[in-house]
Amino acid sequence: MANKEQTKVMEKIVSLAKRRGFVFQSSEIYGGLNGCWDYGPLGVEMLNNLKREWWKEMTYRDNVEGVDAAILMHPRVWEASGHVENFTDPMVDCKQCKARYRLDALFDDLSVKRKKEVLRELYPDQYAGQQNDEVIEQVFAQLVINDQKAAEIAMMLPCPNCGSKGSFTEARKFNLMFKTFVGPVEDASAVVYLRPETAQGIFVNFLNVQTASRQKLPFGIAQIGKAFRNEINTKNFLFRTREFEQMEMQFFVKPGTDDHYFEYWRAERMKWFINLGMKKEKLQWHQHPKDKLAHYAKDAYDIEYLFPFGWGEIEGIHNRTNFDLSRHEEYSGKSMKYFDDETKEKYIPYVIETSAGASRSFMAFLIDAYHEQEAPTAEGTMETRVVLKLHPKLAPYKIAIFPLVNRDGMPEYAKKIEADLRPHFKVFYDDSGAVGRRYRRQDEIGTPYCVTVDSQTLQDETITVRDRDTMQQERVAASKLKEYFAIKLL
Ligand code: GAP
Repeated sequence: MANKEQTKVMEKIVSLAKRRGFVFQSSEIYGGLNGCWDYGPLGVEMLNNLKREWWKEMTYRDNVEGVDAAILMHPRVWEASGHVENFTDPMVDCKQCKARYRLDALFDDLSVKRKKEVLRELYPDQYAGQQNDEVIEQVFAQLVINDQKAAEIAMMLPCPNCGSKGSFTEARKFNLMFKTFVGPVEDASAVVYLRPETAQGIFVNFLNVQTASRQKLPFGIAQIGKAFRNEINTKNFLFRTREFEQMEMQFFVKPGTDDHYFEYWRAERMKWFINLGMKKEKLQWHQHPKDKLAHYAKDAYDIEYLFPFGWGEIEGIHNRTNFDLSRHEEYSGKSMKYFDDETKEKYIPYVIETSAGASRSFMAFLIDAYHEQEAPTAEGTMETRVVLKLHPKLAPYKIAIFPLVNRDGMPEYAKKIEADLRPHFKVFYDDSGAVGRRYRRQDEIGTPYCVTVDSQTLQDETITVRDRDTMQQERVAASKLKEYFAIKLL
């Protein structure tokens, strides 16, 4: 559970995100729509940068192709994939106030003390004495993996909304897919789903892509796109939302080589986050216990990030075996087999999936970059500066350009620099307020470089370039600026 300090950090980041135009609540003027968020001018830049980095990383290889499939797919796709039957969360309703909860979410905010009381009530002999908190947390977490036990424990808890005890219904399965209708008739034959994962658009196109691109196994197909889940409990800003974006890649391999490629992609994906500046010590692996694996998986690891509210998954790497392709072959009646030219064998490939949330990674990068530091003002006193130490490739603006003062030809010179750089980099021109304030405004949104035109510029045609993280300044010839930033930023 997050402590007060961590909650405060989260509040500051959400507030900065809104104030500076990274993320707004969806339909805010109507009170918002739960689980949906809009990206503002800086947010969309950063999100696009993040997706571009992923796209380059994954598809600028000779063995990974890209696709962009439709969000709406034939409804049989979701029967074949198992989502109609299995994509459910157990939930309970309070009989008194009708509030609905995901069963596991009921336990999220329980204190260790309360968990200990529950264990004592269930197993008086075992938990009568002193146990340390870590043991209690572990035992409790293990216990509620079992849905039946979880439902039994729920009956011991008061409803968080109205406080009634023992008022929960039996746990029921709630399907997380959003339904809608194609065409004018709203009956069962017209039902389609908003895709809950982008992966199926890749599976159904496996042979189309393979034939069109003449790829041989092993090869992958990558896609970035929106996914929708009717989550019962949305929470923690962009962490669990109802509409979000995924960046997924399915790597098709010969059965028997799957373990090798599973390890290969695990290492590649962890490297990607670290290379984009995410702190190593805030990343960890979580292997799914065998009894908690998704219905399609043989093995699965999550890359987890240490958010202010605790560890949370940002990407899953799954060995999906030949489950999806076999099911599509069965449900569509069309062969999904690959013909191996060399061995003359025909078989259904195994699939290693890398599945990252673009929105969730965006949030993790934002949090990871957030720093508060003591820094000197122009007058020499100390103040707290907020700085987003985003990797330059992710930063919304790359360079800010300032005239030191609005006279003596400095604005004209600065405008010339802006015109030179703007076609190549996302730049921002600012001539309002003291230059120290302008630096702080750029620090807060993660702009890696600020360029200032001052009186020396007018004499020797050099300008100062200030580095966001070190706050060091150096003088660079104005004529060499483009090359200087090309080396730093491209
Ligand atoms: N195709 C496999 C799949 O969808 P998942 O673990 O359910 O696997 C993959 O989702 C990633 O999608 C997660 O690691 C997370 O980053 C993101 N994600 C899943 N549900 C989300 C939600 N409700 N809100 C935001 N991101 C979500």
